[in-house]
Amino acid sequence: MESKRVPSGMETVRVDLGSRSYPILIGHGTLSDFGRAYAARGLGSVAAIVTNPTVARLYLDPVRAGLEAQGVAATVVEIPDGEEFKTLATAGRIYGDLIRAGLDRRGCIVTLGAGAVGHTAGFVAATYLRGIDFVQVPTTLEAQIDASVGGKTGVDHPLGKNMIGAFYQPKLVYIDTETLMTLPRREVVAGMAEVIKHGLIRDEALVRFLESKIEKVADLAIEPEQLVSLIARNCRIKAGVVAADETEAGLREILNYGHTVGHAVEAVTGYRVYKHGEAVMLGMLAAGRIGVIKGFWKPADLQRQNALIEKLGIPSGARTLEADKLIGRMASDKKARDGVIRFVLPETIGRAVTCDTVKRTEIEEGIRYMQERAPEPV
Ligand code: NAD
Ligand code: GLY
Repeated sequence: MESKRVPSGMETVRVDLGSRSYPILIGHGTLSDFGRAYAARGLGSVAAIVTNPTVARLYLDPVRAGLEAQGVAATVVEIPDGEEFKTLATAGRIYGDLIRAGLDRRGCIVTLGAGAVGHTAGFVAATYLRGIDFVQVPTTLEAQIDASVGGKTGVDHPLGKNMIGAFYQPKLVYIDTETLMTLPRREVVAGMAEVIKHGLIRDEALVRFLESKIEKVADLAIEPEQLVSLIARNCRIKAGVVAADETEAGLREILNYGHTVGHAVEAVTGYRVYKHGEAVMLGMLAAGRIGVIKGFWKPADLQRQNALIEKLGIPSGARTLEADKLIGRMASDKKARDGVIRFVLPETIGRAVTCDTVKRTEIEEGIRYMQERAPEPV
């Protein structure tokens, strides 16, 4: 693959969390410089790169070689690819590999891959030897703009997704947007859901940019500089929210726009039908409609949101989902309080709030609205 390097170097976004602050470095075609960035942060001289076979085949060599060129001894821990391996059993395997490799408190975990790798290995970093340094090298759109930023780490439990975890911040997030070029289009589109979400909750100008360019972005048919700047803009949005509310006691909840219904859609379909971002797209249709019913949002704003989602393609198959089951899942979600289903609702394009007073009939109307717009499966 010919590398189109962004000549002017990398963009930096800082996540401001006092003594736990860290930079997100974003460039294009810059993976082979990772070792230098790692060494410049004074991170451990022994590193464990945790990755999966899909990503290792594509990107392990430059990351490992870059570390070794800086005198860092790099050991590699491969875990199987897939959300179904984001478990305590996989974490247990990683602990074993780290112990066998002799990684001590001065060591550092480098997560190389997508959200599932980052979440699992980040959780291991939070708990191994009561916490060691870790660095995220995310390689999907979703992970570059969301999962790798903000310190959520964890694994799934048979009774619920992300039920075990910790807020634990990395020392560095290193993003090479060129890694997106090998992503299947479906993964890019799923990541775009969170880009739309960021615009709707925090950044009207981003929504306007997407209105003119979303198809090109989803095809990754924009200039590398534009891609770097788009990822940086999204990281900035997320970093700003996380800096204001690291542990989701308030503001951070707005990042869950579209997630109340989205998580329920993922859960009732056994996490096998929809990508997370696809479920979030469906969830934004429902939550957007509820926003209008509650008088928070103008119908014209809902249309603007929907037009973006339609350009990506509304995921099919939601018509057969049962509203009762979806609402049951929402009430038992870890984010519900005493059975009260909390929604994030948009107020204007670029601003959102939480709402605990959405009635069951309003949720049903939101679900109906989402289903009417979702195409039948082909
Ligand atoms: P994923 O981890 O399931 O990865 C998707 C697929 O893409 C995998 O098969 C992976 O091996 C492959 N892949 C990764 N990079 C690639 C590349 N550059 N080229 C080709 N293939 C590549 O997907 P994801 O969407 O990144 O992450 C989903 C996970 O992240 C879930 O576990 C979810 O809970 C978590 N998540 C966390 C947050 C958060 O804020 N903490 C936010 C969103 C999602
Ligand atoms: N993905 C939502 C969060 O990190 O809070």
